[in-house]
Formats: sequence, C-alpha cells, structure tokens
Amino acid sequence: MTARIIGTGSCLPIKEVSNFDLEKIMDTTDEWIKSRTGIEKRHIAVEETTTSMAIEAAKRALENAGVGAEELDLIVVGTVSADRHFPSTACEIQSTLGADKAVAFDINAACSGFLFGLSIANAYFASGCFKKALVIGAETLSKMMDWNDRSTCVLFGDGAGAAIVEAADTGIVSMVQGSDGARGGVLSCYNRPVNNPFVTNDTALDYTSMTGQEVYKFAVRTVPEAILKVLKEGNVNPDEVKYFVLHQANIRIIEAVAKRLNQPMEKFPTNLQKCGNISAASVPILLDEVNRIGMINKGDKVVLAGFGAGLTWGAALLDW
Ligand code: UT7
Repeated sequence: MTARIIGTGSCLPIKEVSNFDLEKIMDTTDEWIKSRTGIEKRHIAVEETTTSMAIEAAKRALENAGVGAEELDLIVVGTVSADRHFPSTACEIQSTLGADKAVAFDINAACSGFLFGLSIANAYFASGCFKKALVIGAETLSKMMDWNDRSTCVLFGDGAGAAIVEAADTGIVSMVQGSDGARGGVLSCYNRPVNNPFVTNDTALDYTSMTGQEVYKFAVRTVPEAILKVLKEGNVNPDEVKYFVLHQANIRIIEAVAKRLNQPMEKFPTNLQKCGNISAASVPILLDEVNRIGMINKGDKVVLAGFGAGLTWGAALLDW
C-alpha cells in the first residue's frame, strides 16, 4: 500500500508586495533581487494567519478530491510559523473542518515539511493504520523576518498548500529523506529564550538568519542527488519524468538542478517569481497550480523535492 495524492488546494494572502515596493522601504533593487533569485513579488499576510490560510487550502483540497472532512484519518501540518505554540495548527484545522476522527499534529522540517508530511502519511498507510490524510505546508514567514535585514526579508513570502492523500496501490513509487543537523546553523531562527524566576534574560526576539551561499551550495549538491536516488529506486529515467516540482527558493538553484539532471527547464514549473520562498508551503502550492491547470494526468511521473533548514531534504517520485 502506498500514498496517492487525489486532490490539492492552496491559499495566498491578498496583499502582493513587488520588488519595487521593497525598494521604497529598504536599500535594495528589483534588479538585485530578480537577478540573484528570480523573485519579482511575494504575497504578505495582513489579515491572514498560518491557520486561516491552511484551513482555506485544506477546504480547496477536500473539494478538489471530492472527500469529506469526516473521512480524514490524519492531518499533518508542516510549518515553522504556527500561530500558537499549542494547540497545533493541525488540531485547529481539525476542529474547523469537523474532521472528528482524524489524528492531528504539526511537524517542523522547514522547507522539507510537506515532503516529510507526505512520508508520514505514506508510512501510516503502509502499516495499515490509516487510509486518508490531509497533508499541509503553511507559513507566515513575514513575521519571522528582520525587515531591516535585506539579505533575508526579500526572499520569503506567505501562503499555504494542501493535498488529500489516500492509501492506494499506486502513487508514491519511491521516497528519500535526509537531515544534517550539524550544519543547521546556516539557516536558523531562535524561539523564546529560557525565561523564568530563576534566570535573568533580556535576549531580544530572534529573526531568520541565513548564510545564503552555504545553503545554496547544499541545495545544488543535495537536491540532484536525492532526485537521482528516488529515480533509481523507482527504476525511472529522468527523461520519463513529466515534471519536477521543486521547493521554490531560487531560480538559479532550479536551473542548476535541471542542468545536473540534463533536463530542460520546461520540465521545472516555477512560481517563485510571484510567490518567493514559502518554506513548507512552496511545493504544495506549486503542485496545486500545476494540478489545477491540468498539466498532469493520470499515470504521469512527477518528482517532488524540498530542502532547507535543519538542514533537511526530501524527494518523492509519484505515479500520478
Ligand atoms: O528555503 C531555504 C533555502 N534557501 C535557499 O536556498 C537560499 C540559497 N541561497 C541563495 O539563494 C543566495 O545565496 C542568496 C539569494 C540568498 C544571496 O545571493 P548571493 O549571490 O549568494 O549574494 P551574497 O549573499 O553573496 O550577497 C552579495 C552582495 C552583498 O554585498 P557585498 O558584501 O558584496 O557588497 C550583500 O550585502 O549583495 C548584497 N545584498 C543585497 N543587495 C541588494 C544582499 N541582499 C541584498 C538585497 N539587495 N536584498
């Protein structure tokens, strides 16, 4: 038994912020951002929250799959920007949707969060525990940025993507995941510091910091390796893959992966130009776009790949 994606949904905040808008509030240029990353604009939450966008994406995915919330056995949300420490985003979603029998929890695998969530559903299905799952990647990264740090805040956006996954004979053909905590310092954001009557602590709230070039080097080496591994395990040649749906961090990373796999860029759909990097939500939002405009049909081979903080990475070969 494996996991098959049978419906997708997504939700982006209403407010769009272009590179030109950023030029007005910080020392940056559209030219710098576009040439270094490919990003032209991003959606930034004003009214929306991680939970509200996740709920909207989930509703759209349920509708797309033709599945009722009461059928769900499992809700997994990949996020690094939950609205609350607890209860989890997944539990709030469960309550709003009325998914009464679902087991619900969040996971933190940063930009690999959706891939890791998918693998959790897959493992539950393989063990025979559950049959239907809702896997979500949802982020409000704008609240975790230092808006005085132009090297990070211009890269990220907000949004949520969701998939309904069911136990089936075909779907995920092969999957790889990895973590390298020893290199975690290159992309991090501290939580609350220890603070209690026995400790004096005046540490300010931390924001996202990144050693961009280290993450870049990690991505261009690890992502092609992970993709080649899932293709080998699935006995599939890169030429047979219809689309490679990758985490949307930087167009130059995607171009490097395409080159390494000797595949044309047309097989790598992108939305980073209008969304920026939305961590765990990037892959499911792009997958929803591709799915809704009918770019993928039953039986197509599709590769998903995520990578980011942790460091973490994951790739999956799907028989759509
Ligand atoms: O989702 C997690 C995965 N994250 C990633 O995959 C990110 C991977 N890394 C990258 O995409 C790239 O490393 C960046 C886009 C983050 C940076 O590109 P880069 O070519 O590595 O630039 P850099 O960090 O070497 O910065 C070059 C220059 C610096 O100026 P000096 O010191 O050379 O004078 C920066 O101060 O660009 C400057 N700079 C900016 N200039 C204008 C940095 N940010 C900006 C900015 N606008 N927003």
